[in-house]
This record gives sequence, C-alpha cells and structure tokens, in this order.
Amino acid sequence: MTTLAPSILSADFAQLGQQISELEQAGTKVLHIDVMDGVFVPSISFGFPIIRSIRKKTEMFFDVHLMITDPERYVEEFARSGSDSITIHVEACDCVSDTLDKIRSLGVEAGISLNPGTPLSDIDPYLEQVDRVLVMTVNAGFGGQQYIEECTDKIIMLRREIDRRRLPVTLEIDGGVNKENVKHIMDAGADVLVSGSAVFNGNLTENMRYFLDVMK
Ligand code: DX5
Ligand code: ZN
Repeated sequence: MTTLAPSILSADFAQLGQQISELEQAGTKVLHIDVMDGVFVPSISFGFPIIRSIRKKTEMFFDVHLMITDPERYVEEFARSGSDSITIHVEACDCVSDTLDKIRSLGVEAGISLNPGTPLSDIDPYLEQVDRVLVMTVNAGFGGQQYIEECTDKIIMLRREIDRRRLPVTLEIDGGVNKENVKHIMDAGADVLVSGSAVFNGNLTENMRYFLDVMK
C-alpha cells in the first residue's frame, strides 16, 4: 500500500484550517509541510507559527520538509512546534550526521532529501540513520512543476538498495505527482507520494478520492 501526503504549499492559506479538516475527513494520514527559506531555494513559504496553529487542529502525522540552509539551527524549534518527522536536504547541511542524530534525540523521525541533480551516493552514508528518504522529482523550490522522468531510475535503484539491506526506511517521492503519473511512480517502488497542486487544484475531496482509490 502507498500513502498519499498532501502538501499544504498549494493550499489556500485564507482557508487553511478548513482545507485541513477536509483533507482529514477525506482520509489523509500524513500532511507534508514545506518550509522554504529564500536561501537554499529561491522562494519563502512559512515557518513555526503556521505549524503550531495547525498542530492544534489535527492529529495527522506532520511530515516537515526543510528546504533551508543550515537546518541544524532550527530542528529543536520545529520539533517543539509539532513535527512528527523532520527532513533535511543533504545539499543544505555541513553536519548531516549530527543533525539527523539531533532530530531523533528530540523524539522525532529523521529524513534526508536530495534534489534531482544530486546522486544517490551522497545520501548513502546516512541510510542507516534515517527513517525516510525524500527523493525530489522536481528541483526543490516551488509547487506545480513537472515530474522529471530521469528520477524514476533513482527511485527504482533506491528501492532495491533499501530492500537489499533490509533498511527500515520509508521511500517518499516529492514533486510533480499527478493523476496521470501516480501509478507509474508507485510501480517504481515509492511508499509515500507527496502531492500539492494535483490535490488542491479543483475539488479537494474528489481529488483525494481519486488518489486514495489508485493507492489502495
Ligand atoms: C517543492 C515541494 C513540494 C511541492 C509539491 O519544492 O517540496 O512538496 O509542494 O508540489 P507539486 O505536487 O505541485 O509538485
Ligand atoms: Zn516537499
């Protein structure tokens, strides 16, 4: 079974509480939360106050994706704000191993992410230290981009490696997942699929129904 993790980056922030209730009622278990700093990626999204506010509204699992430089500065506060999982980018951190340890010591799951241009060998040293790997299938920075097909091989290779080493690691895919390619990406071996625009554009509940039906 594959899990869908809607990304609130594509939400209507004037109606965020309402949309989160709608997602939960439609059967969402994992909420993907994209934090951008305008340095590691060109755009700025949101931070602690939003996470703290929505934490009061729902019990869903908060999968926090930090697209920020030197994330070690902030992991404590993200944990305190209600994150269940914190994922850092291998390209954005000079002390990946220590930061992953720190995240786990805070009682939160730890994840590592890599952009499409970054080889799998860059995250290999950390595979024993993480609960999830977030494979970016667009360049981190914006919602609504097109899935980069070259990344499919990366997913297949990582799936093989996780299975071969019997690692307790969730393989999560982020970027450009839509109704047309969802099956193809599931077949490559993903455990969790993030989707922003394809969930929020149009009718939220109908979109959720479509995805959850395919992923059964
Ligand atoms: C991109 C973010 C993604 C994004 C996905 O930098 O990490 O989580 O919200 O949005 P879609 O599904 O629209 O590509
Ligand atoms: Zn993301």
